[in-house]
Amino acid sequence: MRTIEWKNNKVKIVDQTLLPNRLKFIHLKNLSEVVRAIKIMQIRGAPALGAAAAFGLVLGAANLKRAARDLLNSRPTAVNIRWAVERMLKVPNPNKKSLLAEALKIAEEDVEINKKLGAYGARLIKSGMKILTVCNAGALATVDYGTAIGVIRAAHDQGKKIHVYPAETRPRLQGAKLTAWELKQAKIPFTLITDNMIGYHMQKGLIDVVVVGADRIAKNGDTANKIGTYAAAVLAKAHGIPFYIAAPFSTVDLQTKTGSDIVIEERTPAEVTDIGKTRIAPKGIKVANPAFDVTPARLIKGIITERGIFKPGTIR
Ligand code: MRU
Repeated sequence: MRTIEWKNNKVKIVDQTLLPNRLKFIHLKNLSEVVRAIKIMQIRGAPALGAAAAFGLVLGAANLKRAARDLLNSRPTAVNIRWAVERMLKVPNPNKKSLLAEALKIAEEDVEINKKLGAYGARLIKSGMKILTVCNAGALATVDYGTAIGVIRAAHDQGKKIHVYPAETRPRLQGAKLTAWELKQAKIPFTLITDNMIGYHMQKGLIDVVVVGADRIAKNGDTANKIGTYAAAVLAKAHGIPFYIAAPFSTVDLQTKTGSDIVIEERTPAEVTDIGKTRIAPKGIKVANPAFDVTPARLIKGIITERGIFKPGTIR
């Protein structure tokens, strides 16, 4: 199943805000619908956002400059949006046809890249291992297959007996809603935990390795990923558990020197004060809602990419 594809002159995506209760595809017919879908997270996950930006430029081909600006302003942290926009703007004689050819290439390549990085990452996974992952870095976060979940998928397909612990990932619950849905579909054994159960499971010896995705990897290897990833990395270090990032080269941002230069998206307080349609916190209070955090390179054992596994800070 493709998370995003070009169909009848429209961008067809899975509406991720409806999962796991409903698998519904929606068709975005113009640039502003694509930008809106990105902002409200009907499509999310760094590589999927890159593909969405590429297709968005096809729909916005009549005014490429404006389209590029709107897409770059949609969500700030995942560098794949900028990566895709820059690649699309390099297309010679840009018109709808030539831009579409490039966008389709970006989408096809993403699937191949994930399969390659999955195969590299699976070398790190031994039969019997219990794997923690955060957020959703699966097929839904990419065009297909996934990055961190791609590693898990590859290990599972090789017949290794693994068990996955997806953390629910407050406030948007990508772990509970999306990763649990994907793992269930793929028949990969898993146990859902809340974010504050990570330390407990590590202390009990229930986690052997952590594999997560990335939204932006700075030149020195510091990595932005979903909020809570940093806490999981600190806990992994304290328990001597290896912590890996799985991401394509399009997520590496050599223009950004260190993690402190990465812009962290701040989202609406409603994501914290409400669960679904129910308000869980008093009205009129201060609320913080950073959507990502930065895990310092020193806590990362390796970065799994389509070109192999790198020590953080060594990708050039
Ligand atoms: O806010 P989201 O859901 O777009 O955040 C997604 C993540 O943090 C993923 O881990 C990351 O984009 C990697 S997806 C392969």
